Amino acid sequence: MSEEQHDVVLSVNGTHHPVRLPARRLLSDALRHDLGLTGTHVGCEHGVCGACTVLMDGRPVRSCLVFAVSAQGSDLTTVEGLTEPDGTLGPVQQAFLECHGLQCGFCTPGFLTTITAGLRENPEPTHEEAREMVAGNLCRCTGYQNIVKAVERAAELAATVAEEVVQQPSRSPGGPETGASAPSSTTVVDRDDDNASTGLGA
Ligand code: FES
Ligand code: FES
Repeated sequence: MSEEQHDVVLSVNGTHHPVRLPARRLLSDALRHDLGLTGTHVGCEHGVCGACTVLMDGRPVRSCLVFAVSAQGSDLTTVEGLTEPDGTLGPVQQAFLECHGLQCGFCTPGFLTTITAGLRENPEPTHEEAREMVAGNLCRCTGYQNIVKAVERAAELAATVAEEVVQQPSRSPGGPETGASAPSSTTVVDRDDDNASTGLGA
């Protein structure tokens, strides 16, 4: 007997996606397979590794533990939604690039979403708080030191952006509103790093 299908609308990165899904389709699978948003990675599928973390109404959730149909009505943000409107890297992505916060990149989307939410709650974390912020995510490659550095760097970058916005409130529409683009000193970009931090990899 075929599984009953449900028509739902998933709102992801500001776009509404009407999809027909079985009730037990995991959000991680719906994002990757039904919507083609393969930036969200799936590791353990048990809520342990954090690779599948996305933001649901701004709060980090393990998308491997959420049924996609239950996400209807929520605003979802995946790693693909962390770039700036002009396509440049967001502050957390930029910080990972600058601090070499990734190697294979498999864990990276989950760290980026987790840290994005963490810095909204605590924009000026201490070193201990930066460590705490990523304590629920697993990385097999980096040893975590550069990831913690990236949390601290992301906080600096976000603060700079906020300062610029306050100082220049009347910038014309379409201009560089957030100022989070890569400084010229970081124009040498490792493609693997870039793919993992933007969600453009698989
Ligand atoms: S894949 Fe979801 S927590 Fe590991
Ligand atoms: S698992 Fe490879 S960079 Fe984290």
